[in-house]
Amino acid sequence: MTSDENIELLRKMKEEASQGGGPDRIAKQRAKGKKTARERVVELLDPGTFVEMDMFVTHLCTDFGMEKKKVMGDGVVTGYGKVDGRDVYIFSQDFTVFGGSLGEMFAQKITKIMDLAMKNGKPVIGLNDSGGARIQEGVVSLGGYAEIFFRNVMASGVIPQISAIMGPCAGGAVYSPAMTDFIIMVKETSHMFITGPEVIKTVTNEEVTFEELGGAMTHNTRSGVAHLAAEDEDDCLEMIRRMLSFMPSNNLEEPPLAECTDPVDRMDEELNSILPNDPNKPYDMREVVTHVVDDGDFFEIMPLWGRNLIIGFARLGGRPVGVVGQQPAVLAGTLDIDATIKGGRFVRFCDAFNIPLITFVDVPGFLPGTDQEYGGIIRNGSKLLYAYCEATVPKLTVITRKAYGGAYDVMCSKHIRADFNFAWPTAEIAVMGSDGAVNIIFRKEIESAEDKEAKREELVSDYRKKFASPYIAAQRGYIDDVIEPKETRPRLINALEACAHKREGRPPKKHGNIPL
Ligand code: HXC
Repeated sequence: MTSDENIELLRKMKEEASQGGGPDRIAKQRAKGKKTARERVVELLDPGTFVEMDMFVTHLCTDFGMEKKKVMGDGVVTGYGKVDGRDVYIFSQDFTVFGGSLGEMFAQKITKIMDLAMKNGKPVIGLNDSGGARIQEGVVSLGGYAEIFFRNVMASGVIPQISAIMGPCAGGAVYSPAMTDFIIMVKETSHMFITGPEVIKTVTNEEVTFEELGGAMTHNTRSGVAHLAAEDEDDCLEMIRRMLSFMPSNNLEEPPLAECTDPVDRMDEELNSILPNDPNKPYDMREVVTHVVDDGDFFEIMPLWGRNLIIGFARLGGRPVGVVGQQPAVLAGTLDIDATIKGGRFVRFCDAFNIPLITFVDVPGFLPGTDQEYGGIIRNGSKLLYAYCEATVPKLTVITRKAYGGAYDVMCSKHIRADFNFAWPTAEIAVMGSDGAVNIIFRKEIESAEDKEAKREELVSDYRKKFASPYIAAQRGYIDDVIEPKETRPRLINALEACAHKREGRPPKKHGNIPL
């Protein structure tokens, strides 16, 4: 062959590889409202930056007539490119080739990408759309999955790993996304489950649809498996780009600074009157957060699950921060099992990737009830406490209203090594609310009083005056300053600067034993 013919052949092969499973299967994919694996990658990355690898890889299987069915690329598109000018490694499963199922070579393509990402300290993005283990390849597929799982764990806390679910993701295959940092599911077209509706029907006689069992809304509202639900594929890819903008490329780097046009000394008068006068009335903590952070831009994570706690990313003076806060509008902002699991994992993510933590506290305590006790609130509630204690990133806390009991300790109190603790003058830092406290410690006095209700009210009022304030804690230095709500933004930015070069260690160990 002449050089020209060689080049022509190469071009032809690349063109063929880029067609995946061919026009019919691509049409079927489109008919479901789904893009092809390559289209997704190209849309996610900065224009012209995608470099594809291993286009010529094919499977080695010779069973079930597979030797006659080879598709270049073997059903997964892999490579690297840039998001906002920063390198990322990516794999995108191609449902048009053997249903995106994973065999030996498919897995090797993914592990190659993961190894490169680890060596170079860059994030891995996985776009999942697969029928699971390639049945024809048998145990080799299982081995391939396990190689990926092992690397997910090695990469955890070293490089960010983000998973998008853009089609089926079933069986043991779900554990790779599950061990990455964030899962985004596309509404209606994505499903995650360990065993599908048919197996469930056979084993338990329950009837359930794919959507009810493992759709985006199920995992965003019920199971807490997914962190975000995207309206469609475009929305999903945009969410990945946005998420990455808050993260460093690896655990040895600082998160990327953004230009800040929102004045760092901006006072916000509205914050001075944002709390209702009645301390038992709810308000939306997200409003407090958006008044404080740069340009009111708060990227909330898991907005639909464990809603009594809010978590998400924002910036203060251009620096990315992780925000954790009670949501008094849901379950009065109490801590329960879901909220503490949600918060604990987020705190650990931020700590692993050098993202300072800002905690907004308004917590009347842990949610009472047998559901919570039997569900293990003791074991689960300690996850958030453990995570905050472990965290050595800058930790800033603002108590807006209630900080009662054990929940006061948990919510990034000074005692578990917060760097700067602020309270608004409306803060009530106490062992419990005034009513509960008076009922316990003055029971006898109330019972022996002639007018029991009047006595109770008087005692509650005395207790409230004495203890339901930030000043007792401030007298002890548990609170560094009581600030006007309007000052919150400048004070936090100032504090963040003051601990920007914080160095704090923890004793060397193989690993701790977080209560799982
Ligand atoms: C090989 C597969 C496949 C698989 C799908 N295909 N899944 N080939 N191995 N796991 C092929 C189909 O044969 C078909 O090929 C093409 O992909 C498209 O599949 P359809 O069924 O036509 O598509 P659709 O109707 O959209 O249904 C999608 C689906 C279904 C729901 C994912 O294909 C399905 O149930 N697949 C099996 C899922 C499964 O049980 N996987 C194993 C899970 S256990 P043709 O040539 O006809 O177009 C597992 C263990 C992992 O994964 C363990 C890790 C530790």
